[in-house]
Amino acid sequence: MKGRFEGKVVAITGGGGGIGSAAAQVFCRAGGRVALIDMDVSAANDAATRVRQEIPSADIRTFEADLGIEAEASRVVDEIASGFGAIDALINNAGIRRYEQISDAPWDTWDTIVRVNLLSFVSMSRAVLPAMRAKRSGSIINVSSTYALYGRKGMGAYDATKAAVLALTRTLAFEEAEHGIRVNAICPGFTRTAFHIKRMGQDAVDELVPPCALKRWAEPIELAHPMLWLASDEASYVTSATLMIDGGLPA
Ligand SMILES: NC(=O)c1ccc[n+]([C@@H]2O[C@H](COP(=O)([O-])OP(=O)(O)OC[C@H]3O[C@@H](n4cnc5c(N)ncnc54)[C@H](O)[C@@H]3O)[C@@H](O)[C@H]2O)c1
Repeated sequence: MKGRFEGKVVAITGGGGGIGSAAAQVFCRAGGRVALIDMDVSAANDAATRVRQEIPSADIRTFEADLGIEAEASRVVDEIASGFGAIDALINNAGIRRYEQISDAPWDTWDTIVRVNLLSFVSMSRAVLPAMRAKRSGSIINVSSTYALYGRKGMGAYDATKAAVLALTRTLAFEEAEHGIRVNAICPGFTRTAFHIKRMGQDAVDELVPPCALKRWAEPIELAHPMLWLASDEASYVTSATLMIDGGLPA
């Protein structure tokens, strides 16, 4: 049986991280060809190795790029297009966090986080658009956060970038619809990735009950399945959407 993404190419930024590597697994299972982009190429290589252990036939490659630098997006997209294939779906997923109140966050925090969490989404989208327009088909999925919509203390710069991603998504969806390109955002809630386990410790992660209807953390794979659906032709009438994948926050 053919997979839902058979033979198509997806580029996943932040592909070495928790959600990005789960997406790699799900797209490979669906027959997709996966380009993992990360500034931490050893994390991306580890993710690719794990995918190949599960799916020996997986067509997955890794690409190193620091997407906080504008020119890196077009360089890496050209590298993928020439060495791997034209990109059918782009998942803008690379992200960093800063745990500072707005009263304390220095300009450098804002500069760094805006470059990665917002401007990399802009530069990567711009880099893939010409080929997608030429094919009159493409799907861009932007990873925002449930806290793009809801208030909390302590991560103001991060939350502001994630809110901006939603506006970027809507505008791009309207601008690119006539070219056959769909653009959507997903908003993860509490997702159990290695990042949080390292930051908080395994016991603290296990003990924390997220304040959502489902009262548990998401596993990264639970973000990856909706990404595959959004990228596939099954979501052909879905564009400009914000898909909350947060277990029902706030409950
Ligand atoms: N895990 C959660 O609970 C959660 C909740 C809401 C939103 N998100 C969002 O989901 C996305 C993935 O989260 P995750 O938990 O998998 O994070 P993660 O930290 O595990 O992965 C992020 C990846 O992005 C890469 N990266 C960082 N800066 C980069 C740069 N300049 N260029 C290229 N790559 C870069 C990192 O090396 C890392 O591999 C992020 O955008 C995050 O904000 C996560």
